[in-house]
Amino acid sequence: MKRVEMAVKHLRHALESKDILEVACGYAEFSICASKIAAAVHCIDIDEKRLLPEARDCSNLVFSKMDATAMAYGNESFDTVILYNAVGHLEAVLNETLEECLRVLRSGGSIYVISSFKMDKQVIFQRLLPLLEHKNILYTSTENQIFLYLQIEKN
Ligand SMILES: C[S@@+](CC[C@H](N)C(=O)[O-])C[C@H]1O[C@@H](n2cnc3c(N)ncnc32)[C@H](O)[C@@H]1O
Repeated sequence: MKRVEMAVKHLRHALESKDILEVACGYAEFSICASKIAAAVHCIDIDEKRLLPEARDCSNLVFSKMDATAMAYGNESFDTVILYNAVGHLEAVLNETLEECLRVLRSGGSIYVISSFKMDKQVIFQRLLPLLEHKNILYTSTENQIFLYLQIEKN
């Protein structure tokens, strides 16, 4: 099983038949895999050069070139927001990205920050968790196989 398939399997409950947004999707491997069970997947990146061609072939997957700090989506548009091995590249804009992810997430939904990279995990522990604590935002973190999963719920 590929790494990304392990992550999608682990988060099946948060993806199946849901409206998903993946932020800073890069190759969009996570979105392509999640689109097999989700109702609809939107994925964004500031750059489209990494995007796998398969991402254009999924009928329920839409890629948009978009900045994570200024999303074009309306408030409460998605059930689940995913950052898959991406948070290390968003370190300089962590607060703005978090605020945007919370804005487009529906009440009762969750943001999942998923990481198998050392660099990402460092940013999670050294920057993101202190930011969440400063903002009094509740989170839970779990480790499974190679991944760290950070869940941020929106009440
Ligand atoms: C490690 S890479 C790709 C991660 C991706 N999830 C993957 O598995 O391919 C991080 C991505 O963050 C994107 N990125 C950086 N800053 C961004 C921003 N402000 N808004 C959206 N995407 C951004 C980069 O273009 C890059 O594709």
